[in-house]
Amino acid sequence: MNAIVNRPTTVITGTTHGIGRVAAQALAQAGHRVVMLVRNPQAGAQVREAIVAAVPAAELHVVACDLASLAQVRRATEIVCAEHGPIDRLIHNAGTVAMRAHATVDGYERVFATNHLGPFLLNHGLLHRMADGGRIIVVASCAHDRARFSADHPGEATDPYRALDSLAHPTAPGWSARQAYDRSKLANILFTFALARRLAVMAPGAPRISAHCLHPGIVHTHLLPAWLRLLKPLISRGMIDAQAGAQTLLHLALHPDAGALHGCYLDEHQQIATPSLLARDVALQEALWSRSLRWTGLPPEPGV
Ligand SMILES: NC(=O)c1ccc[n+]([C@@H]2O[C@H](COP(=O)([O-])OP(=O)(O)OC[C@H]3O[C@@H](n4cnc5c(N)ncnc54)[C@H](OP(=O)(O)O)[C@@H]3O)[C@@H](O)[C@H]2O)c1
Repeated sequence: MNAIVNRPTTVITGTTHGIGRVAAQALAQAGHRVVMLVRNPQAGAQVREAIVAAVPAAELHVVACDLASLAQVRRATEIVCAEHGPIDRLIHNAGTVAMRAHATVDGYERVFATNHLGPFLLNHGLLHRMADGGRIIVVASCAHDRARFSADHPGEATDPYRALDSLAHPTAPGWSARQAYDRSKLANILFTFALARRLAVMAPGAPRISAHCLHPGIVHTHLLPAWLRLLKPLISRGMIDAQAGAQTLLHLALHPDAGALHGCYLDEHQQIATPSLLARDVALQEALWSRSLRWTGLPPEPGV
């Protein structure tokens, strides 16, 4: 490992495959100290070796972090806070799909826990370690556009956002693999916009931090379930490889002017895009935020 002082520090989740793997190497190549938060530390170590072989000056660290376990996220947060920082880029990239509903060790639906709750808790734990000019980047998806709530889980007049509760529940009626993923990606955008609002009104003198989210394109990665991967040759038209799929993330992380895209959702061509009506619903963003605090055991925000 090459300890060069004054490298920017990037913390990124899910670097053992796909977009995250490509991004970790590109960030190392760009001179960043890359802290890779991975579910499987052995696989993470292999990726680190492979990147160092390709980029001998790379500085990479592997930290175990199964995002589906709140305890593991808390532990990883402590390690990162103790050993790294200030953080210039925090990239929430890891994501999963599931063909069946499973409960995590904390009792939450696994896709939602991995794709939203774990990153939400991680973000809270690392926010105070962000550098001035730091950027938080969330890999969402255009799949958020298909997310629906009201049809199968009508809210109540007293709490129109009660349907949100089904997100976290592993045995919610009407669970489907597709809706679970789509809703978790909607949660990514709702979270980013709520975070961006909070970052925009930070106290004078506090570090300036921007928040961004993106759709990377339809990318050939491990995200597709195994049975679908077998059909890949049949469905691959219009798909891009992980190298191309990492470009929007890398643009937000590395372009000198990308901090100005605070609060924006970018498409796979690095253009500002408009997410769905649900994603732009400020009350829904806030309803998810307050529930996420509760679900992850964080205190409510003062005055709320
Ligand atoms: N591929 C697409 O077409 C597409 C489209 C839109 C958005 N996205 C988003 O892009 C992001 C990256 O996905 P990808 O396509 O590169 O998929 P991928 O090849 O499956 O990589 C996903 C990464 O997330 C990690 N991960 C999964 N569950 C985890 C957990 N519980 N804790 C920590 N890490 C976990 C995986 O680790 P393991 O090696 O341990 O499984 C892997 O490193 C995801 O957020 C995905 O939703 C992808």
